[in-house]
Amino acid sequence: MTDTLFPVPDSWAKAAWIDNVTYRRMYEQSLSDPEGFWGEQAGCLDWFRPWTKVKEGSFDGDVHISWFCGGKLNVSYNCLDRHLPMRGDAVALIWEGDDPAVSRSFSYRQLHEEVCRFANVLKSLGLRRGDRVTIYLPMIPELAVAMLACTRIGVVHSIVFGGFSADSLAERIRDCQGRVLITADEGLRGGQRIPAKENADKAVEKCPIVEKVIVVKRTGAAISWIPGRDLPWGELMENASTDCPPEEMDAEDPLFILYTSGSTGKPKGVLHTTGGYLVFSAMTHKHIFDYHDGDIYWCTADIGWVTGHSYIIYGPLANGATTVMFEGVPHYPDWSRFWNIVDKHGISILYTAPTAIRALMRQGDEPVQKTSRRSLRLLGTVGEPINPEAWLWYYDVVGEKRCPIVDTWWQTETGGILISPLPGAMPLKPGSAARPYFGVKPAIVDAAGNFLEGPADGNLVITDPWPGMLRTIYGDHSRFLQTYFSMYKGVYFTGDGARRDEDGDYWITGRIDDVINVSGHRLGTAEVESALVAHPGVAEAAVVGFPHEIKGQGIYAYVTLKADCPPSEVLREELLLWVRKEIGAIAVPDVLQWSPGLPKTRSGKIMRRILRKIAANSLDDLGDTSTLAEPAVVEELTRNRPAAA
Ligand code: WTA
Repeated sequence: MTDTLFPVPDSWAKAAWIDNVTYRRMYEQSLSDPEGFWGEQAGCLDWFRPWTKVKEGSFDGDVHISWFCGGKLNVSYNCLDRHLPMRGDAVALIWEGDDPAVSRSFSYRQLHEEVCRFANVLKSLGLRRGDRVTIYLPMIPELAVAMLACTRIGVVHSIVFGGFSADSLAERIRDCQGRVLITADEGLRGGQRIPAKENADKAVEKCPIVEKVIVVKRTGAAISWIPGRDLPWGELMENASTDCPPEEMDAEDPLFILYTSGSTGKPKGVLHTTGGYLVFSAMTHKHIFDYHDGDIYWCTADIGWVTGHSYIIYGPLANGATTVMFEGVPHYPDWSRFWNIVDKHGISILYTAPTAIRALMRQGDEPVQKTSRRSLRLLGTVGEPINPEAWLWYYDVVGEKRCPIVDTWWQTETGGILISPLPGAMPLKPGSAARPYFGVKPAIVDAAGNFLEGPADGNLVITDPWPGMLRTIYGDHSRFLQTYFSMYKGVYFTGDGARRDEDGDYWITGRIDDVINVSGHRLGTAEVESALVAHPGVAEAAVVGFPHEIKGQGIYAYVTLKADCPPSEVLREELLLWVRKEIGAIAVPDVLQWSPGLPKTRSGKIMRRILRKIAANSLDDLGDTSTLAEPAVVEELTRNRPAAA
């Protein structure tokens, strides 16, 4: 932690959308008169019909929240059509391929045409408003086209990250009952091929609901093909008309489902709706990244995560921005790739994750310094707490002390950024997410739910609805209530710990539930555990996070084998592969320790607190072990802790 303050440079404060005085005034108004405030702000979109009431519902009772009730709009219309008269030929999307020699750009007019075509393709397959479509695509332009096409006709998309396994994909298809799946022959990342179609085939085998699989040709690899079920994207598009009027959607019609991890083994289908989400993602994008005409904006996330939804596609395109989408990875073909991309496209705003910054930092300054980066004027981070060391490197070396950093805190559930500095309005503190965005009322509570005033350390909650929040968990409103509104009455529980300092700035300290954050990817420890125990040789497994230099948190698995299954290196490898197959590469444990027993209370509950300490190698600090049923188990685990961990 560092106490150094980085003040807002004068030039910045003058040119930014929001300066200090404006922030205070607007924040004040957003709390004292939310309806007036948001009613005015929602004018940033084009509505077919205005709303009759700005806001309905509260965090008490059944938590049925509505924004812009009765308003009608269309997301693709707002992201495309309305920009055509003024900036039809301006670049909407720059796609940078895995191979540095390959990039493409799409004007608003071109993107509009592609989206209309694909919307007609979806219609020709019988899809109508309210139907669900699953998208399992690598980071290629067709992904942006597919999402926007869904929104054009009111189809709800569920995007599944391309790194997830066939089983994870199948689980998500089954949950939302998507009849159509969109995938590619293969993905390409860092020169490696990812067998998208092969995974999709395996998933569809387990999902009879899927009638059609649309396949984009990315690498041209030979793939298996089921005539009648599998349809080539290219041919469908050739035959489709470019005329597709946008559906008039209700502000509260579902827009997309995005699955995310919680404390239990089953991913939650976070449901976002149309009006509030788009207003919120557009406004936060404009204010927090201080987006102005002429900026070239690049968010390095994968669209399979919420960051890509809100801040590669919806927020930027609603604002008529030029948004960059990158297929590859930071280290291919070498560690200068990010900076070469910045120079190649003249990127002025860069939004990435602490895990990437740490990995880049480890390569030293040279790969950065041999590039220009003169175009950069603002940097952002998201996904996990950023350690001050990484923050300072990002600031000094990447931004050459010229670019403010916005450390943006938010979640899949929140739809958009809730806590972040506004770059023209407040000084920066390395590691602090600073202040709430307009209309956001954070609070810190203790374990018993008492509100803590002033400087405080505790659990982060939000006390009032905001437009971009999730409305429910798809098909399971009681789980929605249970997850977010049962811990403390009448407030939204974030699952994060936070500290508020003397100045009123927030510092996010990380998850306080059984969710771990691996390279900025959210994973439930229960998901990894259930994958492990599904292996025939495993009797029991416990998974915890531990501090990891690059990933933020790594995955530490304690595995108890069945009596007839002896531990071996071969079995260890097999289990790691098993998890990769069950969930995906992101869930593969960094450390796997054979554990003849697990520390349990006398009532049989696994004492994760102790497992976390052993994983973190804080062996002198195991805390109270008096409730352990068998203290010898802990001794055994500490003695046999793998040396490499
Ligand atoms: C963590 C990603 C500290 C946090 C947008 C949250 C952060 C979880 C930050 C959500 C940040 C996100 N500082 N922690 N700036 N941003 N987190 O749903 O624990 O993939 O609850 O959404 O990431 O992860 P999710």
